[in-house]
Amino acid sequence: MSDSTAMTRRALLLGVGAAGGAGAMFAAMGALGLAPDAQEKAFVPPQPSDFALRGRGAAKVVVLGAGVAGLTCAYELGKAGYDCTVLEAADRVGGRNLTLRAGDRLTEKDGETQTAEFGEGTYFNAGPGRIAQWMVTMDYCRELGVPIETFVNNNASAYVYTRGMTAPARARTARADLYGYVAELLAKATDAGALNRRLTKDDRERLAEFLRRFGDIGPDLTYRGSTRRGFETYPGVTGGVPVGAPPSLSDVLAAGTGRALTMDFGYEQAMPMFQPVGGMDAIVTALVRAVGRDRIKTGARVTGLKNLPDGVEVAYQGGTIRADYCVATLPPHLLARLPHNLGAPITAALRTPVPVAAGKIGLEYGRRWWEIDDRIYGGITETDLDITHIWYPSHGYHSGSGLVVGYYNTEENAHLYGELSHRDRRSRALTQGKKIHGEKYRTELRSSVSIAWQRQPHIEGGWVYWPSHQGAFTLLQRPAGRVYFAGDWLTHLIAWQAGAMESARKAVTELHRRVLQTSS
Ligand code: ALA
Repeated sequence: MSDSTAMTRRALLLGVGAAGGAGAMFAAMGALGLAPDAQEKAFVPPQPSDFALRGRGAAKVVVLGAGVAGLTCAYELGKAGYDCTVLEAADRVGGRNLTLRAGDRLTEKDGETQTAEFGEGTYFNAGPGRIAQWMVTMDYCRELGVPIETFVNNNASAYVYTRGMTAPARARTARADLYGYVAELLAKATDAGALNRRLTKDDRERLAEFLRRFGDIGPDLTYRGSTRRGFETYPGVTGGVPVGAPPSLSDVLAAGTGRALTMDFGYEQAMPMFQPVGGMDAIVTALVRAVGRDRIKTGARVTGLKNLPDGVEVAYQGGTIRADYCVATLPPHLLARLPHNLGAPITAALRTPVPVAAGKIGLEYGRRWWEIDDRIYGGITETDLDITHIWYPSHGYHSGSGLVVGYYNTEENAHLYGELSHRDRRSRALTQGKKIHGEKYRTELRSSVSIAWQRQPHIEGGWVYWPSHQGAFTLLQRPAGRVYFAGDWLTHLIAWQAGAMESARKAVTELHRRVLQTSS
C-alpha cells in the first residue's frame, strides 16, 4: 500500500469511527482489508490520532527482550505514544542479531570468553547474515534508513565438496554434470516412448527442447560436457583450456551433490539476497535509535511475570515494573522457566518447541586469497563435511583483508563444535576447510571468533523447531491475560528476522486494538 493510500484510508476510518463508534470503524477496517485478520496484507502502525476517537491515551507496555521482535514491538507501539520499557537480560541489545568487531567479547554459558581481534573494518555477522527481497526486513531497512547491499548467496565459482568426491569441484562444473545427465536420462526415456502415457507428441517435443537447454546435451541426447563445466585456463586471446570431460553418470550420482546444488532453490534462499552495509546490527542500531535508548534497560534479567486484574507486574534484576500490558519475546524455552502465573497450559505450550543448535566461526585473513587465487567473489561453498558451508564475504571486494565464515552448521554438527573450546573448533574447522582450499586456509589465518548459539546466555539456541503447528503454537498466538507473545518462533519464518518482525506487528496490532476497544 502506498503512503497516500494509507492516509486516505486512515482519514476515512477516522470519519467512520467518529460517526459510528468503534464497531463501525472495525467493520469498515474489515471491508478495507485492515482488520487484524488481514494484517499480514496491510499492517497499519498504531498512531496517536487513533486515540482521538476514544478519549483514551496510549497504555504502558513492558517488553521482555531487546532482540529484533522486542525492538520492533517497542518501535511500532512508540509511534502511537505507548510508554514502552524494554527489559534485556544481556548487557547488549539485539539478541541473535549479533555483529562482532575488533574488541567485542563473547562469553558462552560455560564461561569461556573470546575477544575478537579483527582488524579495523572487519566484522562477523554471528547471527543472521542474509535477507530475502520479499521479507519485511527490507521494509524496515527502507523505513529506518539502513543502507543495504547484495548478499551473494549463490556463486558458480564457489566449490562443492562431498565425501563422495575425490577433489572439490566448482559449483558450475558439478551443476553442469548433474543437470547434463538428468537431461540425458529424461530425454532418452522420452525418446524411447517411456513417458508416452503422460506426454502428447507436442509435450515430448517441448520437453526435448527444454532438456537440450537444461543439460546442454547433444543432438543424440547424450551429455558429454561443455564449456558450462568451466576452464582450467580462461579464454582470452586463446580459446582457453576447458576443465575436460565429465566423470561417468555413476560417479556424478555417487558424489551426492544434490543438496549443494539445490541450496538456493527455496523461496527463502533465492538470489538476489541482501545484507545491511557494515554489518547486520545496523538494523538493531536503527531500531534502538528510533525506540530511544533510555527506554531499554540492559542487564535486566526478568525473574517473574504476573498477570494482575488491571495490568502486569514484571520482576527483574534491579527492580519491579508495573504496566498495562506485556509483550514477551524471549525464546520459548526460557519463558517456560520463568516463574509466572499464566497457568500450566501456557508453560506446557512454551515447552513444546524444541531448541535447535546452530554455530558459526568467523575466520579473518590478511589476504583475500579466495578472490585473488580462486576468483570467488562472495557466495558459498557447500559441503557435506561437518562445517556444512564456507561463506565468502559479499563486501569489501579487493580490500586488504576479509572474513570467511568457516562453518555454519546446525543440530548434530553444531553440538559437535559447540562442545569444543574455541581453539579446538578453529582447529577442526581449518582441517576441514583445508580439504577444499589447501594449506593457505590454515597458514594465512589472522584471527577468529566462534559462536555456539545453544551456549549463548539468555538465548540458548539458534532457533526452535515445532513438532506441530497445532495446539501449543495456536495457543501462544493469543495473549495470556495481558501478556502477549512475539518472536520468530511464533511464525512460519523461524530463524529469520522477518519472522520476529511479522510476529511483533501481529502482537502490536492486537494489543493496540484491545487498548482502543477497552472501556476502562
Ligand atoms: N535464516 C537462516 C539462514 O539463512 C536459517 O541460514
